[in-house]
Amino acid sequence: MSPDIEARIIALTEQLHHLNYQYYQLDHSEIPDQAFDALLAELARLEAEHPALARPNSPTRRVGGTVTKQFPTAEHRYPMLSLGNTYSETDLREFDERVRKGLEGAEMQYVCELKFDGVAMSLTYEHDELAQGVTRGDGTRGDVVTNNVRTIRNLPLHLRPAGPARPAEFEVRGEIFMPLPVFGELNEEREANGEALLANPRNAASGALKLQDSAQVAARKLRFYAYSFLMPGRSQFETHSASLEALSAWGLPVSDTWRRCATIEQVLDFVHEWDKKRFGLPVATDGIVIKVDDFRQQELLGYTSKSPRWAISFKYPAEAGRTRLQAIQYQVGRTGAVTPVALLDPVPLAGTVVKRASLHNANQIAALDLRLGDLVFVEKGGEIIPKVTGVDLEARPADSQPIVYPTECPACGTPLIRPEGEAHFRCPNDRGCPPQRKAKLEHFVSRKALDIDGLGAETVGRFFDLGLVTDAASLYELPAKAEELAQLERMGEKSVQRLVAGLETSKQVPFDRVLFGLGIRYVGETVAEKLAAHYRTIEALAAATAPELAAVPEVGGVIAESAAAWFQEPANLDLVERLRAGGVQLALTGEAPQPQSDRLAGLTFVLSGVFELHSRDELQHLIQQHGGKITGSISKKLSFLVAGDKMGPAKREKATTLNVPIIGETELLAMLPAAGETPAAPTNESPATPTSQAPGTLTQGSLF
Ligand code: IVH
Repeated sequence: MSPDIEARIIALTEQLHHLNYQYYQLDHSEIPDQAFDALLAELARLEAEHPALARPNSPTRRVGGTVTKQFPTAEHRYPMLSLGNTYSETDLREFDERVRKGLEGAEMQYVCELKFDGVAMSLTYEHDELAQGVTRGDGTRGDVVTNNVRTIRNLPLHLRPAGPARPAEFEVRGEIFMPLPVFGELNEEREANGEALLANPRNAASGALKLQDSAQVAARKLRFYAYSFLMPGRSQFETHSASLEALSAWGLPVSDTWRRCATIEQVLDFVHEWDKKRFGLPVATDGIVIKVDDFRQQELLGYTSKSPRWAISFKYPAEAGRTRLQAIQYQVGRTGAVTPVALLDPVPLAGTVVKRASLHNANQIAALDLRLGDLVFVEKGGEIIPKVTGVDLEARPADSQPIVYPTECPACGTPLIRPEGEAHFRCPNDRGCPPQRKAKLEHFVSRKALDIDGLGAETVGRFFDLGLVTDAASLYELPAKAEELAQLERMGEKSVQRLVAGLETSKQVPFDRVLFGLGIRYVGETVAEKLAAHYRTIEALAAATAPELAAVPEVGGVIAESAAAWFQEPANLDLVERLRAGGVQLALTGEAPQPQSDRLAGLTFVLSGVFELHSRDELQHLIQQHGGKITGSISKKLSFLVAGDKMGPAKREKATTLNVPIIGETELLAMLPAAGETPAAPTNESPATPTSQAPGTLTQGSLF
């Protein structure tokens, strides 16, 4: 290995760590973004060419790229406790009295911090490097999510050589959160895709952290704030505040909102001060945490079984307001779901003026006994979308009007249906109903689908309103209307050229994203990827039956039914043909993965339960790699039922009745060729690391 290359990797690593610190901790860019990206790209290339020199904490890890099938768990060295809650000034004064009594009137100070509304995280640093990230779990054991945590940009993978000396090994605790603007964007995107909205940034952060693909975690732009330092034995610091200062000096992000307070009055001032000011922060907060500053005094006060006696949280009440319900608007989404939205007299709430609030569905309107003209209570808690929580019945005007839920689509007049088990009424006229058609088009051009440059949601909506486009395939007829388009206000020749070029480029967008763009109900990004990888062409996919589809990894029964039904519709098949004429990709290009052997040819398998050595996906893949077939249901013709842990008793019973042999994971693996029998694919993953570049693909090295 050339020493020059190693030296270059080290120099790039150090430079990038430094630039990250400058950018994320000090809000300062030393070099332009492009120059930063170029350095990062160079490092990534060198690491790819010399994998032995790639370090686990390389700045390139920020972009993710590891896939974890199931997170291992680890025990917390110090249990992760929760905090007692208080809701009033009186509660806080009582806490102060308990503390002062416990300390027998000794002089003391508090530290007040904001309570960030995210997910608690325990980070271990060893010899200045981030070694492990573990979730809270049940307080004693949590999930090891180190690779996901490495994608959090403001979290140092390597500590700065600054500040007080530090132990070789220590723990930092803090909160991982999704910044509010990121949360807003994510929900907008989900709304455009017809996906359920995430209730609050906390759920969004916790969901993101559990994603198996760290590249997807990186895309969620999570951030971290540190709030505790823990080390073996007695802390090297006298006070919590000294430890916060040290954490900052070492490069860890500590929100600068904390303050020392000598009296409970000062604590209350802090509480009042942040009551409103917190809404100006880019992170959701739901209260204040008050901690005794001195570590010896903390020790003296000790713990109850659940929480420390030296700290408490004060929760701000959810901001509530009272205002008049003017009307209800019924919105029709991409999939035809009708959502009622309350239109309100404007009311200031949690830093914004609220004019609309969510009502979810018809059941909720009934449960609230809502009438037009009512004075309603509106709350904005951790949620970003305010909601109507009740009616002031005493103030109900005599002329209030009962709400008559529409029986017909407000947009196209088609009678609404409510499928069994669903909370929403739906307009079934998916091909004729204008808002549905428009939303489908917006979805088709969106970033995760065809991502057509020069054609955002707004423009495509405008084209639709003007009758210039009617569906996805008609987009590809737009170049023929270039002159007409250029006459439109705010369009011009340049924009048209860009749009035409964007359409041309979109013809290279891979089949899986085109499939996602079709907007088949329940076929999200991941399912589209799996289906495309499995069937490779749209013809093969269209020919599959629902049970066949359900046997593809990650495709459940409901998804399979929905996809199969979609391809039954002649109008949809016509759309596909017109898209083909338009030139979009309807098949995966490149080589299909070659089967490794035909050892399982002619055999069919059902996998059920949880497996020990491999994930179900991996086993399915393996079976297919060796010529076997997976099916979804147990029948007489089935060759084997592979039973994992927690398999339902009904499956076992059915297999036994039909005389289908039941085998375990080890027996299945024993049916495959042993290592060496087939040429082994080269790999540099160790068998103990359940990571691979492509989800669902297995290298020989990780198996045998
Ligand atoms: S200190 C012994 N400080 O609130 C517990 N917690 O119930 C020490 N949280 O989920 C926790 N901001 O993750 C502390 N500035 C802060 C915090 C904070 C948010 C979360 C924490 C935990 C919950 C405590």
